[in-house]
Amino acid sequence: MGKVATGLTMSLDGFIAGPNDGPENPLGESGMRLFDWYSSGDTDYEMPGTEMVFRVSPASAELLREAFGTMGAFVTGRRTFDIANGWGGRPPLGVPSFVVTHAVPQEWVYEGSPFTFVTDGVESAVEQARAVAGDRDVSVGAASIAQQCIRAGLLDEVHINLVPVLLGEGVRLFEHLGDGQVELERTRVIEAPGVTHLTFRLVKED
Ligand SMILES: NC(=O)c1ccc[n+]([C@@H]2O[C@H](COP(=O)([O-])OP(=O)(O)OC[C@H]3O[C@@H](n4cnc5c(N)ncnc54)[C@H](OP(=O)(O)O)[C@@H]3O)[C@@H](O)[C@H]2O)c1
Repeated sequence: MGKVATGLTMSLDGFIAGPNDGPENPLGESGMRLFDWYSSGDTDYEMPGTEMVFRVSPASAELLREAFGTMGAFVTGRRTFDIANGWGGRPPLGVPSFVVTHAVPQEWVYEGSPFTFVTDGVESAVEQARAVAGDRDVSVGAASIAQQCIRAGLLDEVHINLVPVLLGEGVRLFEHLGDGQVELERTRVIEAPGVTHLTFRLVKED
């Protein structure tokens, strides 16, 4: 079985998007600043399964190759899916993608669709994603889904691309985590221009 990991870009004050995010403004007001590091380097990184090419630093390219190269399935939330307009039918990483939602958008249900809409919760979505990923990892994108995975003890690893900016408001990554502390062990730090890549392992009780 592979790992369940989340990989998100976050401001130093904890936001993964600015306020008023929506299809017209996917990362909210000022939020695009978070993704500057994806286009400010000199090394091409081609996002698997898509036509997206990022221009990052060599250190970031190495990290992305490693982190994304092992992904076998993707789990996200309905807001991220809607804001991205389903990535035009080509989800990130080109892997089977599971969207947690209360209501299935029928227009996205068709033969060969890369999306499975899961209406019975995050645990079910992760279970289905693990089943298709096999030995490969499951990537969890979006704040609310990562939070629910942490609460349910489903997350093995957290990758944070930490950007030195204070957004002040927006979509917080670490909230709604319930009572009790969550222990993490830092397993890697990669310093790159404009971003620090941090990897943590979630410490689980035996
Ligand atoms: N910085 C980054 O790296 C990064 C990466 C990805 C996304 N983002 C940003 O993150 C923001 C979206 O994150 P988010 O946390 O606000 O939203 P989200 O997790 O993408 O979606 C939340 C929605 O998913 C559905 N949902 C969640 N849990 C559910 C459950 N247990 N059962 C049924 N449905 C459930 C609900 O939608 P319904 O009730 O409508 O079904 C809920 O409103 C966007 O601004 C996006 O651009 C940032």
